[in-house]
Amino acid sequence: MGVKITETVYRDAHQSLLATRMTTEEMLSIAEKLDDVGYYSLEMWGGATFDSCLRFLKEDPWDRLRKIRAIMKKTKLQMLLRGQNLLGYRHYADDVVEAFVGKAIANGIDIVRMFDALNDVRNLETTMKAVKREGAHAQCALSYTISPVHDIPYYIQKAKEMAALGADSICIKDMSGILAPYVAYELVKALKAAIKLPIQVHSHYSSGLASMTYLKAIEAGADVVDTAISPLAMGTSQPATEPLIAALKGTPYDTGLDLERLNEITEYFKPIRDKYFENGMIDPKVLGVDINTLVYQIPGGMLSNLISQLKQQNKTDRLEEVLAEVPRVREDLGFPPLVTPMSQMVGTQAVLNVILGQRYKMVPKEIKDYVRGHYGKAAAEIPSDIKKKIIGDEEPIAVRPADLISPQLLELRAAAKEFIEQEEDVLTYGLFPQVAMSYFKERWSRKYKIETSLYNEEAPVHPV
Ligand code: CO
Repeated sequence: MGVKITETVYRDAHQSLLATRMTTEEMLSIAEKLDDVGYYSLEMWGGATFDSCLRFLKEDPWDRLRKIRAIMKKTKLQMLLRGQNLLGYRHYADDVVEAFVGKAIANGIDIVRMFDALNDVRNLETTMKAVKREGAHAQCALSYTISPVHDIPYYIQKAKEMAALGADSICIKDMSGILAPYVAYELVKALKAAIKLPIQVHSHYSSGLASMTYLKAIEAGADVVDTAISPLAMGTSQPATEPLIAALKGTPYDTGLDLERLNEITEYFKPIRDKYFENGMIDPKVLGVDINTLVYQIPGGMLSNLISQLKQQNKTDRLEEVLAEVPRVREDLGFPPLVTPMSQMVGTQAVLNVILGQRYKMVPKEIKDYVRGHYGKAAAEIPSDIKKKIIGDEEPIAVRPADLISPQLLELRAAAKEFIEQEEDVLTYGLFPQVAMSYFKERWSRKYKIETSLYNEEAPVHPV
C-alpha cells in the first residue's frame, strides 16, 4: 500500500503564505481537475478560512463549502477544527459545537481534523460525539511541541485517549515545523505499535526540516502526509506535493499519483501565486527557511509579534532578554505548545516580565484564566508559587471547561434573527458576532440594492 496525500492548497497553504485570501472563484476554476488527481483528501475548510471569508472576502464560507462539494464528487473534503473553540478563539457551548459540526458535515465535509492547543482530550469530547453522530471520519490531531514532558510516552498516552474517544485516525500536527526526521521516525513507529489507527503527518516547511521529516515518517509507516501544490508550498506552508510524489515513485511507498496530471494544476496556481506576491499578500520573508524556529523553539510568527510588541514600547534592545524569558514562562505554565492562542499569551507575558523588571507583576486576564484551568489542563503541573503569584489562593477548576458554559444557541438565534437566511447564519454569528453582522448587512444591501450606509449604524454619518 502506497502513501496517501492530503492536498492543503485550499486551506493551510494559502493560510500560511497569503493570509488566507484565496477566493472561492480561484478555487472553483480548478476544482474538477483537483478532483481527478486521486488525492486521499483535500483540506479546504476550517482553520482561518472561515473568518477570512467573512472578514476580508465578504463571502459566505458555507456557500464556498457547498460550491466546492458540488464540483468535487470523488475526493474527500477535509476541515480543521479547534475542538471546543470551533473556528474561533474561545470555548463555545456544547449546543453550538454540536450544531456547527452537524452543519459542516451536512454541507459536505467528510473528514473533521480536530485538535486542542493543550492536547486536553476533554476539549474534543463534544466535537467527537457530533462527528460520530453524523457518520463522518473523526481525526484527532496531537499538537506537537518539544519540552521535557512532551516525550514519546506522552504522545502515546494522548493518542490512546483519542482512540478511546472514538478517533478514526491520528494526526501528528507539527504547526511550527520543528518535528525532526529521526524523532518523527521514532514517534510514528511508537504510535503504529501502540494503536491500530492510520497515522497522518502534518508539518510546515518553516525550518526546512519537513520534507526530510515526511520521508522518515513514511519509512516508519505513516499512512498519509499533508502537502501543498508547489506554487503554494514551502516556506511557512507544507512541503510541495510534486517532489514527494517523484521521491516515492517506484518504491513500496509509491503514491500512484500522476505527475503529468498535476502539472496542469501547478500551472494554474503559478499566476495566482504571482498575483498575491505582487499585491503584497505574500511576504517574501515567509518563503525562506527560518532558523529562529529551531534556535529559539518558537514559531516564526511569534518572533515577529514579539519584535513588534517591543517596538511599540521602544524596547527592541530587550529582545534577547525576552527570547530568554519565553522558555521560562512556558515552563512556569506547564509547557503549553506555542500555538494559537498560547503563543500570543506566553509571548505577551514574557514581554511584560522583562519590561516591568519584575516577573508576573502584571498578568493579562487570558493568562489568569489559563491558570484557573479555563483553557484545559496543561501538560505539566503549574508550580504552586507561580500559581499563587498569578491567581492568589483561587482554586483552579477541575471540570471540563465547557461544562461551565450554558447553552448559547437560542440566544444567538434571537440576536441575529432579522438577518438569518439559512440556519448556518446562526452559527456564523455565534462564532464572529461583529464580523458576521457586518457581512449580513452587506449581503442584505446587495440583495435589496440599498446603500450599506443606510442600514449600517456603524457607518459614519455623511455630511449633508
Ligand atoms: Co498547519
